[in-house]
Amino acid sequence: MNNTNFRKPVRKAVFPVAGLGTRFLPATKAIPKELLPVVDRPLIQYAVDEAREAGIEEFVFVTGRGKTAIVEHFDTAYELESTMTGRGKSLDVLDPTRIQPGSLVTVRQQVPLGLGHAVWCARAVIGDEPFAIFLPDELMYGSPGCMAQMVEAYNEVGGNLVSVLEVPMEEVSSYGVIAPGESKGNLTEVKGLVEKPKVADAPSNKIVSGRYILQPEVMDLLASQGKGAGGEIQLTDSMAKLIGEQPFHAVTFNGRRFDCGSKVGFVEATLAIALDREDMGEEVRKMAKKMLG
Ligand code: G1P
Repeated sequence: MNNTNFRKPVRKAVFPVAGLGTRFLPATKAIPKELLPVVDRPLIQYAVDEAREAGIEEFVFVTGRGKTAIVEHFDTAYELESTMTGRGKSLDVLDPTRIQPGSLVTVRQQVPLGLGHAVWCARAVIGDEPFAIFLPDELMYGSPGCMAQMVEAYNEVGGNLVSVLEVPMEEVSSYGVIAPGESKGNLTEVKGLVEKPKVADAPSNKIVSGRYILQPEVMDLLASQGKGAGGEIQLTDSMAKLIGEQPFHAVTFNGRRFDCGSKVGFVEATLAIALDREDMGEEVRKMAKKMLG
């Protein structure tokens, strides 16, 4: 295996955001789940900030019907900005929402066939470059961010990388799970990958936590990938086929992860980030203490 072939810089990132967000109804009837705020930033903003910090230059959103407000969020808001400027207000608060002209691309996933299918929908934009994937439901909180830690590892080993974390064994069936090989520091060799295994069949309790760096060859595998767990086209199944062909490692994120795909996880993220904020942490702590008696 010649690792030098799998080390091109990672400049592009795919954000699968076509999901219906049914778990958060009625909040998500007219508003995309990715725009629900954690304190004062929509969920998607955390993923885009993390991507930018890691050096991502091109942002590919895989959207669907009713999700265009996500794209609006990253567009120039002429009326808002001229009104604010007219009132002498600073526009700095909008800085994170600015993506360079031409650097935001959207593709549509017309039918919900699974994560593997969503990623495949971005193939023409990705071309023959390695790329990152961010599942925005997974809020990865830390400095440096999760993807920055992965890019650092990529610069060492190249190939394909997934972020992993350990969960209690009884929870593995909700996730992609790795069969771990040798570990060195935060880096673990990936020997196998299985999507949503039964607890008894799971090769470990290390789950894939929503961040990926993949080589473009995965797109060819996705093109003919059959249905897997839950009757969906699974990214995990195509990634598994790269093992042995290309380097494949897992990075254990040094930081905190919040599962914003669940309501409790969303509340946890909101509270943890509010407590951590310089502008409001102390007040929130007092309020929470009082509330909890
Ligand atoms: C997806 C992936 C799974 C991964 C999980 C992380 O599953 O298929 O491998 O562990 O995201 O959140 P989903 O949440 O779409 O069922």
